[in-house]
Amino acid sequence: MYPLRLRITVLTLWFIAAAVSSVSGHNITDILSDFPEYSVFNDYLTQTRLDDDINRRETITVLVLNNSVMTKLVANQSLSVVKPALSIHVLLDYFDMAKLLTIGGGSMISTTLYQTTGNAAGSTGFVNITDLKGGKIEFGSADKESKIKSLYTKSVKEFPYNISVLEINSSIINLEILPKPLEVNFSTLLDAVRCRTFLKLLISTGVLDIYKKVAEQALTVFAPTDLAFKYTGAPDLNNLTNAELVSLLLYHAIPSYVPEITLENEKGPMPTLATNNAGKFSFTIQTYGSSLMLNSGVDDSRVLKMVSDVVPVCIFMIDKILLPMELFAKRPAPAAALPPAPESSPPSVSAPAPGSSSTPIAPSPAHIAGTPQVIPPPAPTIPPATSPVGGAPAADIGSNNVSGGDRGKVPAIFLVLVIVSILGIFF
Ligand SMILES: *[C@@H]1O[C@H](CO)[C@@H](O)[C@H](O)[C@H]1NC(C)=O
Ligand SMILES: *[C@@H]1O[C@H](CO)[C@@H](O)[C@H](O)[C@H]1NC(C)=O
Ligand SMILES: *[C@@H]1O[C@H](CO)[C@@H](O)[C@H](O)[C@H]1NC(C)=O
Ligand SMILES: *[C@@H]1O[C@H](CO)[C@@H](O)[C@H](O)[C@H]1NC(C)=O
Ligand SMILES: *[C@@H]1O[C@H](CO)[C@@H](O)[C@H](O)[C@H]1NC(C)=O
Ligand SMILES: *[C@@H]1O[C@H](CO)[C@@H](O)[C@H](O)[C@H]1NC(C)=O
Ligand SMILES: *[C@@H]1O[C@H](CO)[C@@H](O)[C@H](O)[C@H]1NC(C)=O
Ligand SMILES: *[C@@H]1O[C@H](CO)[C@@H](O)[C@H](O)[C@H]1NC(C)=O
Ligand SMILES: *[C@@H]1O[C@H](CO)[C@@H](O)[C@H](O)[C@H]1NC(C)=O
Repeated sequence: MYPLRLRITVLTLWFIAAAVSSVSGHNITDILSDFPEYSVFNDYLTQTRLDDDINRRETITVLVLNNSVMTKLVANQSLSVVKPALSIHVLLDYFDMAKLLTIGGGSMISTTLYQTTGNAAGSTGFVNITDLKGGKIEFGSADKESKIKSLYTKSVKEFPYNISVLEINSSIINLEILPKPLEVNFSTLLDAVRCRTFLKLLISTGVLDIYKKVAEQALTVFAPTDLAFKYTGAPDLNNLTNAELVSLLLYHAIPSYVPEITLENEKGPMPTLATNNAGKFSFTIQTYGSSLMLNSGVDDSRVLKMVSDVVPVCIFMIDKILLPMELFAKRPAPAAALPPAPESSPPSVSAPAPGSSSTPIAPSPAHIAGTPQVIPPPAPTIPPATSPVGGAPAADIGSNNVSGGDRGKVPAIFLVLVIVSILGIFF
């Protein structure tokens, strides 16, 4: 077994280093769109954003499954299981029939996209390709626990030596042997990477509940570190009304699943949870060398690392608080004294989405948001980063007076309004 292990290691290092090249010429979504019999497979590549990873690689082979096989495979499976399963069907090498026949009655191991995630246990990140002779080629997980073997059926499309699409007759891995997807627990994850100030604010304002609700569909969070709140250019959050604070926190998440590679490819303004009409409360993504920067129009925040990626939720850590134009642009400077409230830009979160069904069953948005004349309610103070999670002081929203155990929570009706608005816009 030792020589095989060694081969696997060498192959891994080689492919991981070599495969992530610049943008390649192909578009897997486009290639597969000519073949309706793979539309389910194609759709899952898009949903899991594996399409972006495939498109940026050269010298790649995609093993596709037809709609009936694919539908059975993914039945009752969460996207967080489907993504690793499909990434095992993407080989980091170019194989067409001519090349497969060079195996000459033997077998070989190929690295898959799954191996590049760092999550592959055992040999699950590798595929064993065996030439059974007579034109029969068998694909199976190199992991001995997956007993499933799949047969090459036909070549779908070849662009030598960039990308090849081959059809096989079944999944090459038994989904049962893949690790069970982790529950995304925002509290645990943010606490572990010292984004505790951010977490406390999410809890005290009730915005965490909005995140959780949106995360059922798709959510990507950009969490500022504890240091980001102490940075000299950081705004004094005590000078924001609670409605503005809610907008600020909603601005730190987008209602779509955007893993790292997809983030690098994003162009144009990204709408956030605080966005309720075109261009408002959005930011753009820029790459400077190997750095990914989020630009709000007021300042840049650097993406420090990916904290979690479990479809359909991603969490990234950033080095500075994102400062939306709508809250910070007209003020003298982020650190300088702020006027009581901007005249022209009430936080847009509280306004129902145009065309959404949330007709005024609740106090008017302007009332919830607090008008410029309203004296800001006691602002939340930011507890020291070392104190336990959940002990954040209460923060009322607008002039609503919430008592007892509910103190510190956004009024339920407000949450419903915001959630309805967000869902109305994006889903
Ligand atoms: C393969 O990729 C290279 C570089 O992206 C491109 O120039 C070439 O045209 C591609 N070949 C085919 C057959 O698509
Ligand atoms: C790939 O093709 C699809 C469908 O033709 C298109 O919607 C998508 O924008 C393309 N992606 C890129 C990165 O060009
Ligand atoms: C999926 O789950 C439902 C209910 O849990 C069950 O009725 C159905 O048979 C399952 N389908 C498959 C293919 O396992
Ligand atoms: C691939 O699997 C076959 C059995 O299906 C086995 O005989 C062969 O040794 C394996 N090849 C490698 C390189 O592990
Ligand atoms: C796929 O091919 C293998 C190997 O010949 C065979 O055992 C299996 O039954 C086939 N699966 C399907 C779904 O046709
Ligand atoms: C899909 O693939 C399976 C396995 O190769 C095959 O049995 C089935 O007939 C195919 N279905 C269609 C519609 O081609
Ligand atoms: C998240 O983790 C915390 C602490 O580990 C726990 O108290 C909480 O119940 C978890 N939340 C969910 C939704 O599992
Ligand atoms: C915040 O507002 C208070 C008065 O409400 C003011 O004294 C203080 O200078 C302001 N701080 C900043 C950083 O704007
Ligand atoms: C509002 O809250 C303050 C203290 O937080 C309390 O003194 C006051 O009685 C409350 N008003 C109402 C109407 O509940």
